[in-house]
Amino acid sequence: MPQKTRKILVTSALPYANGSIHLGHLLEHIQTDIWTRFQRMRGHSCYSVCADDAHGTPVMLKAQQLGITPEQMVAQTRDEHHQDLLDFGVEYDNYHVTHSDENKELCELVYNRLDEAGYISKRIISQLYDPEKEMFLPDRFVQGTCPKCGAEDQNGDSCDVCSATYDPTELKKPRSVVSGAEPVLRDSEHYFFDLPQFQDMLQDWLQSGAVQPEIANKLKEWFEEGMHQWDISRDAPYFGFEIPNAPGKFFYVWVDAPVGYMASFKNLCDKTKGLSFDEYWDKDSDAELYHFIGKDITYFHCLFWPAMLEGAGFRKPTGVNVHGFVTVNGAKMSKSKGTFIKGRTYLDHLNPEYLRYYFASKLSDAVSDIDLNFEDFAQKVNSDLVGKVVNIASRCASFITKRFDGKLSSNVLEPELVAEFHQAQGSIAEAFEKRQYHKAIREIMALADKANQFIDSNAPWVTIKDESKQQFTHDVCSLGINLFRILVVYLKPVVPILASQSEAFLNDELSWESSQSVLTDHPINKFKALMQRVDMDKVNAMVEDSKENLEPTVTLDPNSPLAKDPIAETISFEDFAKIDLRIARIAKAEHVEKADKLLRLELDLGGETRQVFAGIKSAYSPEDLEGKLTVMVANLAPRKMRFGMSEGMVLAAGPGGEDLWILQPHEGAQPGMKVK
Ligand code: MSP
Ligand code: ZN
Repeated sequence: MPQKTRKILVTSALPYANGSIHLGHLLEHIQTDIWTRFQRMRGHSCYSVCADDAHGTPVMLKAQQLGITPEQMVAQTRDEHHQDLLDFGVEYDNYHVTHSDENKELCELVYNRLDEAGYISKRIISQLYDPEKEMFLPDRFVQGTCPKCGAEDQNGDSCDVCSATYDPTELKKPRSVVSGAEPVLRDSEHYFFDLPQFQDMLQDWLQSGAVQPEIANKLKEWFEEGMHQWDISRDAPYFGFEIPNAPGKFFYVWVDAPVGYMASFKNLCDKTKGLSFDEYWDKDSDAELYHFIGKDITYFHCLFWPAMLEGAGFRKPTGVNVHGFVTVNGAKMSKSKGTFIKGRTYLDHLNPEYLRYYFASKLSDAVSDIDLNFEDFAQKVNSDLVGKVVNIASRCASFITKRFDGKLSSNVLEPELVAEFHQAQGSIAEAFEKRQYHKAIREIMALADKANQFIDSNAPWVTIKDESKQQFTHDVCSLGINLFRILVVYLKPVVPILASQSEAFLNDELSWESSQSVLTDHPINKFKALMQRVDMDKVNAMVEDSKENLEPTVTLDPNSPLAKDPIAETISFEDFAKIDLRIARIAKAEHVEKADKLLRLELDLGGETRQVFAGIKSAYSPEDLEGKLTVMVANLAPRKMRFGMSEGMVLAAGPGGEDLWILQPHEGAQPGMKVK
């Protein structure tokens, strides 16, 4: 009996239209796409929609910088994003954009319903305003001196040096990142959504199993801190939708972005006969709705969004599936290390299905981060996909083609082995259903091992030479091909391109049910190599291509570090030569109590020892440093710091955070030596 078919709608978070799709985004799109393909293979109705997130201040400013309208920029970026995704085999039923008629209409509908139900209020608030650019400044567009420690050039909400968090109005010497002007405080009326009224509803919804336990716990903390009214308006100039009956006031981008899920689906319904919007979004809809998102946007999807839907009389999500962040080689993706990799750069060098397979092999339903380690990546793809799965077909296919007329045998050898392959269907399906992709992959590879053992122990390349064993050889190779076929069925949601090439080879269309059958007396086609091994040279070339060129360009992008930190006044060579650089051995390195950034170092100069406080804690742990050689500025005037005297400085460079390196002379160098 086939299971009752389900009606499912899934979404991925809408990428912002001011940057390229990168490997972090791809984790999410691949996760969603695998789940969608799996559901469809199982015979369920499963629609998937996504869109570009068009609105907000960063998009508006970037378009200005490029000298085009935001509409033009968004249209271009949307097409680029959509193509990138398609090239990774990520196929949405609809890929829309939030700057659309459907979205405007739906936003107004949602807002008007919330307003009528009494969930919207107005109040005057005071915010930093750029008098030159004539616009209010979001926190990240204000910089200044930290009110706590006095460090210069700190962001509007937190200090990189002392880790203090504060309100942008507390910054000393604040300036607008947009114009450089000093911001002033200005009053303006804002619109608020009454989130606290939904607290009970949200608590029930979270109990319904809609989110992972880790997320439910996190949300509990937020409840304990207390819910606040949510500021949903932004003043002109703003790229977005104007709020009805509120000239000059626009919906904050996070209001219209999730409504964009509905709008993309609405746009699909308008193009698809028989597909009804209401069937999926009505309050009492029996369809399932799942959002796939990253952990950074949990708050919006698990508090604001269900509350908006409830308040406006729509259904709430069945589930919000939260994933962690992609790190590369164990660290945050970094532009300088070349590990901030755009989807397009990856595609220029590597097969998209390597990444789909690798992510699948690591994805679970947990919120933990996922590390893309290139060695592991190459090893896993080469040993699993190429070495185990494709290898089965390539070992058996040519005998079938050359010696047995291109036809599989009518006999089935080893029915127990075949039964095992059939039976695995249930637990593999369960793993996919629960987003335990790593578990599904593990099971599939265990089967692949068995298939290879079967072939090894029967050695068709030996028996083929024995005239009396022709039937046996035919049976062995045929079973090999059949086992390969079942593996491909299970892998089809993960590697659809490999699957479709295999379908051409097998002369068969693979549904989930195909895993329960065996092909006998069946003609197959000539085998062509289905997948190449990962070539580490190509991986390295991709990383090289991703290293951002930090040379100044003629037109300065406002996001460029040079826009924020212009290059300082030129110094003479004599000035530079005054700096006395010496080799020093790090005799001791330790944490400094209450210091977030600093390590205390004892530097052996081969005759005297210096104490230096170095702001490199984010990049190094003390154990990594002890015993190493480095280079220090030895003639810097001692400085009294909160934690003690600092008698010099070690040279470390990099954009900051984990991306920071001390100089490391070769081990033969002698402490105290002058560095020239
Ligand atoms: N535009 C909003 C989403 C609106 S949804 C109504 C946004 N855009 S984003 O481009 O910044 O991120 C899109 C998705 O990619 C988010 O789910 C985000 O968590 C995810 N990721 C962005 N960087 C990521 C990694 N490094 N790793 C994994 N996912 C990451 O937020
Ligand atoms: Zn500070």
